Amino acid sequence: APLRASVSLHTGRTLGEISPLLFGGFAEHMGRCIYEGIYDPESPLSDERGLRRDVMAALKDLNFRIMRYPGGNFVSGYRWTDGIGPRAERPRRRALAWRSIETNQFGPHEFMEFAEELGTEPMWAVNLGTGTIQEAADLVEYMNLPTGTLYSDLRAKNGRTEPYGIKYWCLGNEMDGPWQIGQMDAHAYAEKALQAAKLMRWMDPNIQTIACGSSATAMPGYPDWDLTVLSHAYNQIDYFSMHHYAANPYPTVSNTEDLARDTDSFLASSLHFDEHADTLAAAIRVAKAKNRSKKDVYLCWDEWNVWYRAKAGDGGWSEAPHILEEEYNLEDALVVATWLNTFLRKADVVKIACIAQIVNVIAPIMTRRDAMFRQTIFYPLALYSRHARGVSLDPLVRSPRHATARYGDVKLLDVSASFDEATGEGATFLVNRSQTQALHVTLGWEDEAPQALTGAWQMSGGDPLAGNSFGDPDAVTAQPLTLPTLDGGRVSLTLPPLSFTTLLSGHV
Ligand code: AHR
Repeated sequence: APLRASVSLHTGRTLGEISPLLFGGFAEHMGRCIYEGIYDPESPLSDERGLRRDVMAALKDLNFRIMRYPGGNFVSGYRWTDGIGPRAERPRRRALAWRSIETNQFGPHEFMEFAEELGTEPMWAVNLGTGTIQEAADLVEYMNLPTGTLYSDLRAKNGRTEPYGIKYWCLGNEMDGPWQIGQMDAHAYAEKALQAAKLMRWMDPNIQTIACGSSATAMPGYPDWDLTVLSHAYNQIDYFSMHHYAANPYPTVSNTEDLARDTDSFLASSLHFDEHADTLAAAIRVAKAKNRSKKDVYLCWDEWNVWYRAKAGDGGWSEAPHILEEEYNLEDALVVATWLNTFLRKADVVKIACIAQIVNVIAPIMTRRDAMFRQTIFYPLALYSRHARGVSLDPLVRSPRHATARYGDVKLLDVSASFDEATGEGATFLVNRSQTQALHVTLGWEDEAPQALTGAWQMSGGDPLAGNSFGDPDAVTAQPLTLPTLDGGRVSLTLPPLSFTTLLSGHV
């Protein structure tokens, strides 16, 4: 017999406004993300600009609200001036971060055309590794100022008169990491980020900045780095970044430990996020008080995903190396859903999140020259970005628990819910973490019971390792469910083991 669980929702019991920017992506000049992923003039599937039509259609399905670019580790050695002007004159360089060759055929103008076509907000990372604060300010001038100055006129000469008006700017990337070009200690980074942000804001007062937090909680500097940077640069920071990757077996920085698979812990790995976000939210409060500041700083989870590091590879100084091309399975999709649940439950402090990355490199979309397929993690990403809006509701969840090696006793049922007052539409997202037991769930609305259920999808299948491939692209997808019956403000449904269910409700 299935185990029993219940979820109770009340539109007055809320956790925060859901920022649409929680549903973001990240496109780095890395491996085959840009070249042969998004941009591939040699593919028969590309349009006259070289953009892959099929990839663009899939990215539109993902409905990304914000897109981080151009790195990642890549950005710490990137000279943005290489990527502008006539393509034939753009230099080829060694990109040291991933040991590849950067052809610069895709640069600032091409990225903005891509972002505009997707209808996504650009989030540009400046180079604080080899780059100077002046170069960062010059880039803001190039992208955002009306014509009449050196760089804004150069932009117009390169084909774009209207300023792009990029609002979100990352102040470097993972500057605490030994792998980072131009790694710094916390004090040096805090000062450089502060000075860069100051100049960039003097150039365009409308920008919002994102400073680098520790690149992982495993970093020796965590959370001192975070407190140092926040305290020193608080007045020039609007968002503070967090990065985290999970995997089964659990990844280590060196990736040399021989660890056993532990699916129960993996499916509970979003608990790590709770702790990380709580720690940084506390650090923000401390820094705010130290600065006697009235303004708020929010969290920007601008790199997150499942990453096995098994296919790391080596760029080998080629133009589009096959590196980090992870293949995702059912349990990875469930983990992604639990992380998205956590973002919704932390909606008061987390305002931006970007899945790392979008195509080929640790990504929901995999391509080859003549085809693409949607990986398992594609489906939760699309469902949340399309349906989670309004306020995040605080669900009362009664659920059986099970023991996990890493996170102690964990509820089998993981839930988040949203409600849009303007339209009356609600969405409930439910993950059954059990590998063996179905859950019989009663979902009830304490107030404002919806008139109807308007949509339901489920991912399941029993095999945690099942995934999609070029040969079998739809083996694991979100399948439409027969709508359960709504009876007096309650529905009952059975969630199979290892499943993710989305339920939409609203008015008819
Ligand atoms: O997303 C892949 C890499 O992971 C990024 O370039 C870097 O910021 C992080 O270490």
